[in-house]
Amino acid sequence: ENTPLIERDVVVIGAGPAGLMAAYTLKKAGKSVAVLEARNRVGGRTWSGKVQDDRGHEHFIEIGGQWISPDQTRLIELVEELGLATFSRYREGKNVYVSPDGTRHTYTGDQLPVAEETAAQIEKLIGLLDAKVAEMNVTQPWNMPDAEVLDSISFRDWLKQHSDDQEAIDNVSIYIASGMLTKPAHTFSALQAILMAASAGSFSNLVDEDFILDKRVVGGMQSVALKLAENLGNDVYLSSPVRQLNWATVDPQTADPLNQVLADVRNGVIDDGAPAEVTAYSDTVTVKAKNAVLAIPPNLYHRIQYVPALPREQMIAHQHISMGLVIKIHAVYETPFWRDKGLSGTGFGGGRMVQEVYDNTNYGPNLVDEHEGESPHGTLVSFVSDVHAETLWALPAAERKQCILEELATYLGDEALRPIAFYLSDMAAEEWTRGAYATSYDLGGLSRWGHLQNRPTGSIYYACSDIAAEGYQHVDGAIRQGENAAQRILARLQ
Ligand code: FDA
Repeated sequence: ENTPLIERDVVVIGAGPAGLMAAYTLKKAGKSVAVLEARNRVGGRTWSGKVQDDRGHEHFIEIGGQWISPDQTRLIELVEELGLATFSRYREGKNVYVSPDGTRHTYTGDQLPVAEETAAQIEKLIGLLDAKVAEMNVTQPWNMPDAEVLDSISFRDWLKQHSDDQEAIDNVSIYIASGMLTKPAHTFSALQAILMAASAGSFSNLVDEDFILDKRVVGGMQSVALKLAENLGNDVYLSSPVRQLNWATVDPQTADPLNQVLADVRNGVIDDGAPAEVTAYSDTVTVKAKNAVLAIPPNLYHRIQYVPALPREQMIAHQHISMGLVIKIHAVYETPFWRDKGLSGTGFGGGRMVQEVYDNTNYGPNLVDEHEGESPHGTLVSFVSDVHAETLWALPAAERKQCILEELATYLGDEALRPIAFYLSDMAAEEWTRGAYATSYDLGGLSRWGHLQNRPTGSIYYACSDIAAEGYQHVDGAIRQGENAAQRILARLQ
């Protein structure tokens, strides 16, 4: 109420990579847009930050998404188009593997230094998963052979069906469970796991950290969103959470939306007979438009009141999509001490609290610490996922930090106990995200409702990394989704 009313061809809800890409594509095609963003910044789950050391010096960190892998071709093209540069993750020297009994091993190459039988089991499981991935059309996971069967068994039980080597299961599990979906492997299906791998090309790609964690954007991944927003100028409205979305021209007071609009939508008749129109009510502005792009994570769909209410199958489906939980750890050191010891900074340990660690030293002129080229300070990034994250958040801050640093020291040596700066990304505490990295279905959800996730509701089109095919749960998927929603709307408007 009492907010200005503006009219546009398309209203975009959410200024993450997906929403901004949709708006950028529409604007380039000559359409007028308004992007309504709940936060006071753009970028969503991509977010550059700075953390202070004891001397008051600031160090650059990427609180959210940062890595690009070679299969993420749409994002790679866009980064170039926007005039941004990338740099490679440091990976020289030996990796570290910490086995279940706490023994530390160093190794090179892509084979974990485990017992021969365990190595054979890991190879077998990866081979089986690669074969399943090859059977999946990533745009329609629900149509793969045995989709329902694969969706009715948890990933952990599926792995147990094929191996009784716990160390092998733990290590294969990392790549999907703690490493990607950030949920315990008993809470999501084998089908969901196969989709995760298929969206990156193959399971082998996920296992290969040199592939999946290949490059970063100089100045941070949020620069992609900032550049897109720059092109949109005043059409981006910050601090403007959308509270209500009217999406059908029928008056819900007088019409019978259950019989008319919703039945039509369910039957795939997306035109309700009147000119398409939506009205988005936000805290700062109301936008009337021909179409909307809803570019928010699916776990937040229900935060908006829809008038009329969404079709019943969507209201049900959306309740079975939830965010994972992961803490991204940033530890900055005077120098990248691990390199002097011939270590890459990469470490793995299936089943441990900290299951992965990488060298995340900054590079480039845009950094707050104002170094050209590579920063002299070494940064480690590591992750604590799902139940381990819950355990850590339950501890007092000092104890939590000590616990994490001791884990890092197990991988890389006691120098890891003395960072000059330390920060934990807490996206689960962010009202407009509520978890990390992304959302996924609970057991059985993907085969039941996946086919609905990209189907427009009247004039509302959906776009988010979490409902992407290629680049699922990644910035690349968000970019593809935003572009695709824009192209579908352009086809409709013509
Ligand atoms: P995103 O969530 O980014 O944007 C949605 C926007 O909608 C937000 O800005 C939100 O505020 C807004 N919004 C929500 N509700 C609203 C409402 N009612 N009204 C208005 N606005 C509303 N990816 C990758 O490629 N490489 C990586 O290394 C990582 N690593 C990683 C680490 C961490 C810690 C996180 C949290 C995430 C990643 N990711 C990643 C994932 C990646 O960041 C993610 O896939 C994309 O940011 C998703 O972009 P979207 O635009 O789809 O959603």
